[in-house]
Amino acid sequence: MNHELTEMFGIEYPIFAFSHCRDVVAAVTNAGGMGVLGALAFSPEQLELELKWIDEHVNGRPYGVDVVMPVKTVDRDAGLDDVSDIGSKLREMIPQTHWDYVDKVLADHGVDVSRDVEMEAGAGMGAGVLGWTEASGAPQIEIALSHDIALLASALGPPPKSAIDQAHEQGVKVAALIGRVEQAQRDVQQGVDIIIAQGYEAGGHTGEVATMVLLPDVVDAIAPIPVLGAGGIGSGRQMAAAMALGAAGVWTGSIWLTVAENESSGVVTDKLLKATSSDTVRSRAFTGKPARQLRTAWTEAWEAPESPGTLPMPLQFILNAYANRKMGANPPKELVGMPVGQIVSRMNQVRSSRQVVFDMMQEYADVVETLG
Ligand SMILES: Cc1cc2nc3c(=O)[nH]c(=O)nc-3n(C[C@H](O)[C@H](O)[C@H](O)COP(=O)(O)O)c2cc1C
Repeated sequence: MNHELTEMFGIEYPIFAFSHCRDVVAAVTNAGGMGVLGALAFSPEQLELELKWIDEHVNGRPYGVDVVMPVKTVDRDAGLDDVSDIGSKLREMIPQTHWDYVDKVLADHGVDVSRDVEMEAGAGMGAGVLGWTEASGAPQIEIALSHDIALLASALGPPPKSAIDQAHEQGVKVAALIGRVEQAQRDVQQGVDIIIAQGYEAGGHTGEVATMVLLPDVVDAIAPIPVLGAGGIGSGRQMAAAMALGAAGVWTGSIWLTVAENESSGVVTDKLLKATSSDTVRSRAFTGKPARQLRTAWTEAWEAPESPGTLPMPLQFILNAYANRKMGANPPKELVGMPVGQIVSRMNQVRSSRQVVFDMMQEYADVVETLG
């Protein structure tokens, strides 16, 4: 095995686990891998609480934080930088046709759309804004770097140069997710220490090149910078394949959605456990940028001939947040979705995070021995 990253971070296994759930992050770190908390959905105050909780539960073992730093979003183009009313400003940019279309889709599925819903003005979850505007993402980095983190990762673009420099001054490594060789080269130029090469199979925002092709291309293009393989990795065999392609370790996301520690609704877990690899779709329906997710009546509505077309990030997600508010606590099952990758086909039993790490390493060791 390539030991570069286990030595760099003092971890046992080069398994990096992306999760929005602090319990999963702590469990993977405590099992010998590295948990990385997705900060996107947290307000600065909430992120502070989550990281404090993780600090108290990992006993000094290393963990990371992931932020989303889109190179291009509507708020940047419009110069919106006041977080206190960014939600209302962005909502004003959404055409009436799109609000009406959301109401129509919901009504078609039996939702009572006559009920008024309140959306917040600021940059929080209640406004449907999240950390992917420049104004809401920057405070997340500041809070992440005020904790004893080992890794700062970012998706859709590298962190700003000033954040990378600050991370380095504090001894924190910086990683960036990419889907094309040129993006990896750009991020390395910016000072990123580790590249996460994420293929088309992956859950969440994803590019068009498959992991099998992307990974060796990126490894060769930016050597000797270490590369984590991502997208379609959830077992020891898949991990061995990534390492054979030149990865220094693996970055995983979907597989943690069905672990015992993950918080999610019963409907979502049930759908994930039953889904096959053909039940996901790469669609702009969730955030406005292509993201792999469960195929649902919602994703299909945005592909339908009468659809007005999806809006750019973050406007499309504001429409999702609005729809969620209208649906309330018992949404129609067929509209409920979740970002997830093609490996959802193998996520058909609930295991503990520790067991997932252990199973992956056991199968990895077996397959390497067999091949050897
Ligand atoms: C539910 C879900 C949400 C995600 N959200 C983010 C995110 O906020 N930031 C990020 O860097 N990556 C995000 N990702 C992508 C993961 O970091 C990871 O690259 C991807 O899941 C790897 O492919 P896999 O799903 O096949 O394991 C998300 C993935 C999933 C499944």
